[in-house]
Amino acid sequence: MNFIEIMDKRISVRTYSTTVPEGELFERIQRIIKKERKGPFGNRYSMTFMDIDKSSIEDLGKMTSYGMIKNARFYFGGYADGGDRAIIDYGYCFEEVLLELTDLDLGTCWVGGTFGRSFIASLLSLPEGKVIPAISPLGYPHEKRAFVEKLTRMLARSRRRKPLSKILFKQNDEEGLAPVHPEDLQSPLNEIFHAVQHGPSASNKQPWRIVMHNDMFHFYCDYNKTYNALIKGFHIQSLDMGIALCHFTKAAEELRLKGKFSYSDPKYEKVDWIYILSWNIKR
Ligand SMILES: Cc1cc2nc3c(=O)[nH]c(=O)nc-3n(C[C@H](O)[C@H](O)[C@H](O)COP(=O)(O)O)c2cc1C
Repeated sequence: MNFIEIMDKRISVRTYSTTVPEGELFERIQRIIKKERKGPFGNRYSMTFMDIDKSSIEDLGKMTSYGMIKNARFYFGGYADGGDRAIIDYGYCFEEVLLELTDLDLGTCWVGGTFGRSFIASLLSLPEGKVIPAISPLGYPHEKRAFVEKLTRMLARSRRRKPLSKILFKQNDEEGLAPVHPEDLQSPLNEIFHAVQHGPSASNKQPWRIVMHNDMFHFYCDYNKTYNALIKGFHIQSLDMGIALCHFTKAAEELRLKGKFSYSDPKYEKVDWIYILSWNIKR
């Protein structure tokens, strides 16, 4: 599996074929979904596979992103504590699942905003005090995108990503923070940050910010308070941070850049984003 290629290939699929995966492929899907995974803060998750029968699709369909997901019969998801670290780890593990399914040419879509949470809660036997951060449909992409899907992609400007200089910065001892442009980076960092930049995020807001200083990469979140208040119980943009950390580590591993995470907030004076975690290159 080449993660960097898969990250480039993955897009949100909202219109599915009514033919569903079967046989050996179905078994592989089950293994990927149920596999236990660990996020950078140490929380472990395995997801639950959900086969939603025709009658329930009606219920879920109405509620799934206002009916934007078409024809999906299979879904997967899980639950977590609502704290930021637990949600970041959920984002990290869930994105790993999505990427492995993309490698099998299956379509998926992060659905963290509007879906029938109480309906899914009953399917997952949701324990008291836990939240369902996101679920995803799963299946063969339909050759033709439904009109609503085209509209959603257009409104969310799905293919668009912020320029690298708006997400990656360098801390210079004298001048403070300076934006980093793609031409300032050499391999493998250019490929690694391309992978981070092209990750999915809720409403494509791309809240991840990274500051490079010597051999350290400090990850921050530019949380949007109003947006995060829309969903009760957790900050949806913490999922985005998990995704960024996942893309970063998968790309670094693949390009053999060794390093590890640590909580080492440099407390830069002029940074008003929320500090998440750092990654240190091991020489
Ligand atoms: C945490 C999270 C939540 C999302 N929630 C929804 C959702 O509720 N409904 C939806 O249609 N898309 C949802 N998306 C998909 C994004 O809109 C999509 O990833 C973004 O527009 C980029 O497009 P792409 O995934 O095709 O690259 C979500 C994505 C993330 C990462």
